[in-house]
Amino acid sequence: MPKTINVLFLAAEADPFVKVGGLGDVAGSLPQAIRALSNDDVKLDIRLVLPYHPVVKGENLKPLGIFLIPRGGSEVEVEAFETTLNGMTVYFISGDPIRANGSVYSLDSKLDAEKYTFFSLAALELPNQVHWSPDVVHANDWHTALSIYGNLTKRWEAGARHVAGVVTLHNLPFMGPDISAVLENYGVKLAQTDLPEWARVMPLPLGLWASDAVVAVSPSYANEVLTEEFGCGLNAFLQFRRETLSGILNGIDTDSFDPATDTSIAVNYDINSLEKRAENKGMLQDKLGLANDPNIPLLAIISRMDVQKGVDLAFTALKSMKNVNFQAVILGTGDPKLENAALELQTAFPEKIKAITRFDAALARQIYAGADMLLMPSRYEPCGLAQMIAMRYGCVPIARAVGGLNDTVKHNRTGFVFEKAHHMSLMGAVKTGIKVYANREQWQNLQRAGMAQDFSWEASAQEYLKLYQSLVK
Ligand code: GLC
Repeated sequence: MPKTINVLFLAAEADPFVKVGGLGDVAGSLPQAIRALSNDDVKLDIRLVLPYHPVVKGENLKPLGIFLIPRGGSEVEVEAFETTLNGMTVYFISGDPIRANGSVYSLDSKLDAEKYTFFSLAALELPNQVHWSPDVVHANDWHTALSIYGNLTKRWEAGARHVAGVVTLHNLPFMGPDISAVLENYGVKLAQTDLPEWARVMPLPLGLWASDAVVAVSPSYANEVLTEEFGCGLNAFLQFRRETLSGILNGIDTDSFDPATDTSIAVNYDINSLEKRAENKGMLQDKLGLANDPNIPLLAIISRMDVQKGVDLAFTALKSMKNVNFQAVILGTGDPKLENAALELQTAFPEKIKAITRFDAALARQIYAGADMLLMPSRYEPCGLAQMIAMRYGCVPIARAVGGLNDTVKHNRTGFVFEKAHHMSLMGAVKTGIKVYANREQWQNLQRAGMAQDFSWEASAQEYLKLYQSLVK
């Protein structure tokens, strides 16, 4: 009989049900990849639980019933639903606080405090209701971190089973709002912690404090969060428990992101038919209204319009390269100021630069398949997914040596890397890239080296499995 490890995996979003950003990609793929590692020695029953956000398309959700959790000296109703994703059980939780909050992440921190406290505590109670008991509760980012805190406070109850708590850190600066009053309303007491005082009332720090293990989404980010520059005030706290902190690099969905089979792109190709890629570039130039010329390097930015991503640095760099022959395409939504800055660049350089400020997954794929270089000048980057997708499509990344970019892009081998979060530093790397681009053979070597990398989930899933095993033994 194989040993079974039961894992309750919580996230605010997971593709294909609901996706806002990279967290959604990861929470959609990682649990399935871990589950796929089940073998004769160990069976992994990993179940995903998500909030039933009003934006979730829930046609095939089977109602499981209603249960109650304590709130405000009385009780509040939790509605549970179930479906499957490629054989994996997926639960959805609904209730007043989730219905009251239209978007996945609200601008109103009060709504989010209530919603995610409710969700985390309800999700933690769900296994009891379905007569299943997890060995590990695995939370992601601040939204679900209170489940780890709740898990620890449950452990203090007489006779409680040991259930391990894991937090994956996708983005440390987002720690969540002050939930002290909300938590108390749900009957959960704030413990004496060795967190900095300001952090003692915030979901992510409380989850980190209560966890048995913390995973950063890349080895470099795991080191960075221990420093003052990236530690957001929790560096000393994290230093203190660094033996429970590790870094596991995210993967990408290599079946979906495959230039050999991608149905969104004009011409399919692979590492052995790289010459066909040129057709995608030509089609892209036509579509964007740029000159159809294979010799002009086509630069791309596919990103959330956010200062984290350093898109402002990229805009300044592009503006400064007046005498350089290049084309650029900018695709993404986010901060309205940055969206405007992108559109202004297009207005200033209509022959050279195109900006598309909407979400367009198909166009993103056409850009990966047709552009020559992808710019990622991030100020910090816990992992980053776009650089991995770009390499898989033979689009060469130009990235800052930070976080997951540092772990995935190899300077002069699979891309170009620069140190400083400054537009001059980025510009230097872009100019180097453009010089190398002029040498077809050298350029193709870079493209092929990137395409040959294995960014599938398999390796990450193995690491998570090892971690689970170390926690439940
Ligand atoms: C966050 C991080 C990004 C990471 C993603 C998935 O969006 O900013 O670097 O790739 O989470 O872990």
